[in-house]
Amino acid sequence: MANSGSADLVIVANRLPVDRVTNPDGSSGWRRSPGGLVTAVEPVMRANDGIWIGWPGTDEDVEPFHDQGMDLVPIALSELEIEEFYEGFANATLWPLYHDVVAKPEFHREWWDAYVRVNRRFAEQAAKCAAEGATVWVHDYQLQLVPQMLRELRPDLRIGFFLHIPFPPAELFQQLPWRRQLLEGLLGADLVGFQLPGAAQNFVRLVRQRVGHKTHRDLVYLPDGRTVRAAAFPISIDAEGFETLARSEEVEKRATEIRDALGNPSKVFLGVDRLDYTKGIYARLRAFAELIADGELDVEDAVFVQVATPSREEVEQYRILRDEIDRLVGRINGDLGRIGRPAISYLHSSYPREEMAALYRCADVMVVTPYRDGMNLVAKEYVACRFDNRGALVLSEFAGAAEELRQAWLVNPYDINGMKSALLEAGRAEDKDVVRRMKAMRKQVMENDVAAWADSFLAELAAVRPDHGKTVRP
Ligand code: ADP
Ligand code: F6P
Repeated sequence: MANSGSADLVIVANRLPVDRVTNPDGSSGWRRSPGGLVTAVEPVMRANDGIWIGWPGTDEDVEPFHDQGMDLVPIALSELEIEEFYEGFANATLWPLYHDVVAKPEFHREWWDAYVRVNRRFAEQAAKCAAEGATVWVHDYQLQLVPQMLRELRPDLRIGFFLHIPFPPAELFQQLPWRRQLLEGLLGADLVGFQLPGAAQNFVRLVRQRVGHKTHRDLVYLPDGRTVRAAAFPISIDAEGFETLARSEEVEKRATEIRDALGNPSKVFLGVDRLDYTKGIYARLRAFAELIADGELDVEDAVFVQVATPSREEVEQYRILRDEIDRLVGRINGDLGRIGRPAISYLHSSYPREEMAALYRCADVMVVTPYRDGMNLVAKEYVACRFDNRGALVLSEFAGAAEELRQAWLVNPYDINGMKSALLEAGRAEDKDVVRRMKAMRKQVMENDVAAWADSFLAELAAVRPDHGKTVRP
């Protein structure tokens, strides 16, 4: 085929696994990109020969490069595109709409135009890089038009799409002025993957209602004779990798150091999130503070460590959240802390994986309380690191992970009293109960790791389109 490249597997995601940063001395460097997509897809890419197309987090032009066994092809976004496509349509329109309108989505026509333009650039780059009959795997809500655009350019390709975040019910999706274009964009794929079966069902129902295609169960029949399958593939982590890290002497030593630095309280509660309004950070800190104010917990004996990675800091709702959390933590510590004993130890920063593993090892109660979350990999990372079968997980019913981690203390994050009870119960649970629950959750996480996820997606993609392309072995 003319104009085809040489990669048999092409990953297309908004972000590359590494992000361009400017060091304090003015030089440029790379650091790991934030978020669950990179945590999950990076080990898959390392295990395969292929290329990863994505934005390097800057408006500079960067040449393709090789990083730790991965071939990376950067796509530049201009300053205006960062504003309109990334901060605007992706993160102020789609993100809140797809997360149950936890914040109010904004609809602006110029943001949509930028979304179309940037999606086209990604599709064109993928078309250039993919070998004849290659597999192209497109990821997440920032790139929902890429499958259709790519199919028009390269009908020989086998195209898969995976949505890492929730797919909303029809009642919400219908608000989008560009709902039909987005559905048609996704239908360019042979296989559209979601975190949960309910999301796949929402999609098929919308396609029937809004695009008018015939559907049967999880299949959509297109007028050109093509069939598209929509199904759930719950994402996971490199569970063994996390466990190995957690077992290392350095991590063990660091976990002890962290506990010492916290004053050796009998209970350490932990939250780890991107600083995002969907994660329910404010409500969980309030619930913990009320337990101290009520006299149920004592700052001499319990501390809440909240680690929040800076995220999407130019988007207004994220700035508001940051100010709210700063004020709340200041107020709680001012009112309830004692000298050397803050109620909340708040860290607005990103840490290496070793430090995360040490924090997980040190936490008696892991608190994951999103209002809505596609999966939530933090919950799975915690479980993978607890090879000692200790540690209690408090988990929102509205995280995708709650479908698999049924033995967690499940909570409704909108119910502050319910969260308070769950925090107390998890903190006071008998060892026997904690071990029983953790063992069951560990079985689930260790047996269903990210390699199994990629395997099942790619095998299904090959099955949906057996007559086309080469089979990529995950
Ligand atoms: P999301 O994709 O919405 O950010 P997930 O929980 O699925 O949510 O994934 C978050 C990923 O980011 C996890 O791999 C987690 O370890 C990582 N992470 C979160 N907070 C931090 C932090 N402060 N420092 C380093 N990594 C973090
Ligand atoms: O699905 C989670 C996700 O939204 C990814 O798509 C994204 O890369 C990550 O979280 C982090 O967000 P951002 O890329 O906007 O920093």
